[in-house]
Amino acid sequence: MKNPGQPSSLPANVSIEPRRLDFQSIEGKPRYWHPVAVFTHLLTAASLFFPEGERFFVRSVQYYAGDIKDPQLRQDIAGFMQQETIHGEAHERYNYDIADQGYPYLRRIERFLIKGIFTLVQRLFPKQVQLALTVCLEHVTATLAGGLLKYQELMEDASPEYREIWFWHAVEESEHKAVAYDVYLAIGGSYWIRVSTLVASSLFFLVMVLYVTGRMLKTDGLLFDGRTWREARIYARDRRSVFKAIGKDFIQFFRRDFHPWQIDNRHDIEMWKKNYAETGRAA
Ligand SMILES: [Fe+2]
Ligand SMILES: [Fe+2]
Repeated sequence: MKNPGQPSSLPANVSIEPRRLDFQSIEGKPRYWHPVAVFTHLLTAASLFFPEGERFFVRSVQYYAGDIKDPQLRQDIAGFMQQETIHGEAHERYNYDIADQGYPYLRRIERFLIKGIFTLVQRLFPKQVQLALTVCLEHVTATLAGGLLKYQELMEDASPEYREIWFWHAVEESEHKAVAYDVYLAIGGSYWIRVSTLVASSLFFLVMVLYVTGRMLKTDGLLFDGRTWREARIYARDRRSVFKAIGKDFIQFFRRDFHPWQIDNRHDIEMWKKNYAETGRAA
C-alpha cells in the first residue's frame, strides 16, 4: 500500500448511512412496473448482478481495509460494507420475486453464471485488479444512480413499490460512491488498470444485461414485437438529452485526475432524504 494515510473524500454534509427500509411487497404487482417494457427488463437485468456483485465489492475492499490509517476512511469502509450487504439482500428478494413472475431461469443465471464469473475473477486476477473492478462497477452504478436521482422523470409513472427500491439504492450508491476509489488511491492503483478494466467490464456488463433483457422479452413474446421496440425508441428519443448527460458523467472516469465527487450530486441526495424524513417512503 503506497499511501495508507489517504484521507477520506466524503463531503462534510454526506453520511454513509445503512438504512434497512421496509419495502412494500412487490408480490402480485404489475409485470411491467415501468411504463416501458424494455426499460422494466433492463433494470431487472441490472439488478440480477447486484447480490453477487456487491458481495464481491465488499470482499475486494475488505482485503485492504486493515491497512488504511485514516479514521474517516475506515469509517466510510464500514458504512460501505453495511450498505452493500443490505442492498444485496434486498435485490436478491427483488430478483426472486421477478423470477416468480414467470422467468425461472433468472435464478439460475444469478446463482451459477453471475456467481461463477465473480468467483473466477477472484481466483484468477490480482487483488489490485479486483479492486479496480469494484471501482469501475461502482462508477457504473454511481453514474446510473446519479442519473436516476437527477432526472426523476425516468421513473415517472413507475409503480411506487418498485420505484422505492431503486431510489433508495441510488441514494446509498451516491453516498458511498468514492469509498472504493479512495482505497484504490491508497494502494497507489494504476490509471491504466482502472481505465482498461472499465472498458472490459462495462462491455461485458452491457452484453449480459442485453442478453437477460432479450431473454425476458422472448418469454413475454415481445422480442420481435414492433410496438414494444417502437415504444422504447420513442421513450429514449424523448429523453435523449438526459441519456447524453448521463453518458457524459460516465466518460469522466477516463480523466487521469478523475474523482467521483467531482460529479457533485449532494443536492439530489438531500432532496431524497428530506422527502423520506417527511413521508417515510423512499420513492
Ligand atoms: Fe449497492
Ligand atoms: Fe455500491
